[in-house]
Amino acid sequence: MNTLKVLFVPAEFEALTPADLTEATCVVFDVLRATSTMVAALNNGALGIVPVATIEAAVRLHELDRDVLLAGERHGIRIRAAQTGGIDFAFGNSPREFTADKVARKTIVTTTTNGTRALRACLGAENVFAASFANLNATAARIRDLRPDQLLLVCSGTGSEVSFEDALCAGALADLLWNDTFASDHADSAHIARSVYRKHQNDLEGAMQHASNARRLLALPDLAADVDFCLDRDTADFAAVLGSDGTVRKAQPFL
Ligand code: MLT
Repeated sequence: MNTLKVLFVPAEFEALTPADLTEATCVVFDVLRATSTMVAALNNGALGIVPVATIEAAVRLHELDRDVLLAGERHGIRIRAAQTGGIDFAFGNSPREFTADKVARKTIVTTTTNGTRALRACLGAENVFAASFANLNATAARIRDLRPDQLLLVCSGTGSEVSFEDALCAGALADLLWNDTFASDHADSAHIARSVYRKHQNDLEGAMQHASNARRLLALPDLAADVDFCLDRDTADFAAVLGSDGTVRKAQPFL
């Protein structure tokens, strides 16, 4: 396998096997909005984010520990009591909701349509990162420290489709690492993502006209501001790591 590869569509992360992951470092992107939201919550002091695949799994974890806060969306909208059998989730999936007064020192369990599934599909890899434009440089720096044998940039996509904004962000990370020797065997998919990014790097906002997810959010008055928020680059100075216990936390400095 090439040392730097991009998985564009959910069918690709769903097909990952333990054998694909033993030597892999996976970086998961759900720019609009799951991984951007996780980075925002950690940046505002959340202790950890537990991504789960289903509403039922989220509710079960909340029953075991009432202190954890529930977050997530279906069709982009916060999960409500009617969908859970009685519990209103505390948050949807807008990064702007996860303010320090609400999340500092809290653990958050979240379920979203694609992002949380993509992260869970990578459990078992040597390292798994949740990345967004907000922590791109910090993620690149961490990967440089690790010098992985294989780097898989995993786009969460939208439904079963590729999403423009994830490909763009994967391309931006590929661009940052392009000349690093550990990632020098570039798959065609990495060339494609990087080309898309280099074409649009000076106008990410304008590029959102090609992103169906962005167009959907921009049409919703309450959520439209999420798009710009999620394009803000390098507002967080940490990589976000999915641990083997299934929790995303700030990466700790190497000793
Ligand atoms: C997802 O996980 O599919 C997304 O983050 C959806 C969204 O919140 O817009």
